Amino acid sequence: MEKQSNAMWGGRFTKQPDELVEAFGASISFDHRLAFYDIAGSKAHIRMLAKQGVVTVSESEAIVKGLDEIRLDILSGNFVWQQSLEDVHMNIEHRLIERIGPVGGKLHTGRSRNDQVALDMHLFARDEIEQVYELVKELQVALGDCAESNFDVIIPGYTHLQRAQPVLFAHHLLAYAWMFQRDRERLEGVRKRADLMPLGAGALAGTTFSIDREWVAKELGFTALYENSMDAVSDRDYIIEALSALSLIIMHLSRLSEEFILWSSTEFSFIELDDAYTTGSSMMPQKKNPDMAELVRGKTGRIYGHLLGLLTTCKGLPLTYNKDMQEDKEGLFDAIDTVKTALRIFSGMISTLIVRKEDVERALRQDYSAATDVADLLVRKGLPFREAHEVVGSMVRYCIETHKPLSELTNEDILTFTSLLNQEELALLTPSALVSARNCRGGTAPDAVIEQLHIFRTQCL
Ligand code: ARG
Repeated sequence: MEKQSNAMWGGRFTKQPDELVEAFGASISFDHRLAFYDIAGSKAHIRMLAKQGVVTVSESEAIVKGLDEIRLDILSGNFVWQQSLEDVHMNIEHRLIERIGPVGGKLHTGRSRNDQVALDMHLFARDEIEQVYELVKELQVALGDCAESNFDVIIPGYTHLQRAQPVLFAHHLLAYAWMFQRDRERLEGVRKRADLMPLGAGALAGTTFSIDREWVAKELGFTALYENSMDAVSDRDYIIEALSALSLIIMHLSRLSEEFILWSSTEFSFIELDDAYTTGSSMMPQKKNPDMAELVRGKTGRIYGHLLGLLTTCKGLPLTYNKDMQEDKEGLFDAIDTVKTALRIFSGMISTLIVRKEDVERALRQDYSAATDVADLLVRKGLPFREAHEVVGSMVRYCIETHKPLSELTNEDILTFTSLLNQEELALLTPSALVSARNCRGGTAPDAVIEQLHIFRTQCL
């Protein structure tokens, strides 16, 4: 970035800003990212001014042409951003005047940087939220496909991270698919509130020129516009909402990360992540680390940080624009970039993971997750559930002490606890029988999960 010594506000000032002040106040190092939105907004604005007779058509044409050339310069990397020009708006306007002469100075008629930056951020948020939405959908597709291609796999289901009842692996993955569905619904809400056109608010009170805000809104593809100029330049709610929706998305990814990290450990050994999504250790040759899952879990903190940061920034602000609001950008940019990358990585990780079927089956054999069903069996034979619970609890304790699975108890063993059960009945309680028995809507039985998958695919994808 090159330094420039002319003041941007000419008349009122006799001195240049202190060097630290210039660096501290400038946003160009990050808001240059809004350049194409800024240009699109400016083009719509100047065309509207020409339509309204505020500038001439030839003036408008010269400005549009200049803006298009600047756009190409930026695209080809030939645009030099200057810190002394503070932000993306001033940089582009300054360059426009340099290129086409004083007529370029007419672009800012009836406009303030306050409504200009609001417009840029709305355009940016609208586009990016749409992209995040599509990436969440792709992740859901990957989850649905992985569920389907591993449909026969049963894994232990957990509560308190203790083995509870067996579930279909597909059922477990689909739980995440529904979480991401709610994320998409939230993004739709954010998109709706980002879809409001602020231009025409001027600095805060509107403008004395006869402008046509509806025309600008239509030109830029907005479905609605702000009805209050002060609200238009002060509102950052949609950015906070975007950060909140992004926080929930990465929270969901972080929970899934934790599952993948556990599942890929030797202790669980339920899945193997593809080499492309794992790393080795520089020292320990045996290692295959789930770094990407860990990093997504780790980055969750800073997305929450951006949300809390902007909520805090906005809380004490009087209407309307305050320079504090410049702080709305870096957090949103980082949150968008981070979540988009995390979503892409997770889609790839899910599409390539392999289920270690033998190890999963071994895990199922070692647990006591049939206990609830043994108790249910006793209940069907007339025992009150509380007593059944007690009986089966003692049976499990005996099995743990003698290192036996429930299915290996002999009739003799069983008789010491109850006369209502026999060996054959216990042997029937295989993981697959346990899963199939849970055939209520939303349950983990294969038939119920097929139904669930069907509803998911037809309603969500
Ligand atoms: N760079 C500023 C921002 O991002 C643009 C708006 C500046 N407006 C002003 N009155 N200083 O918030």
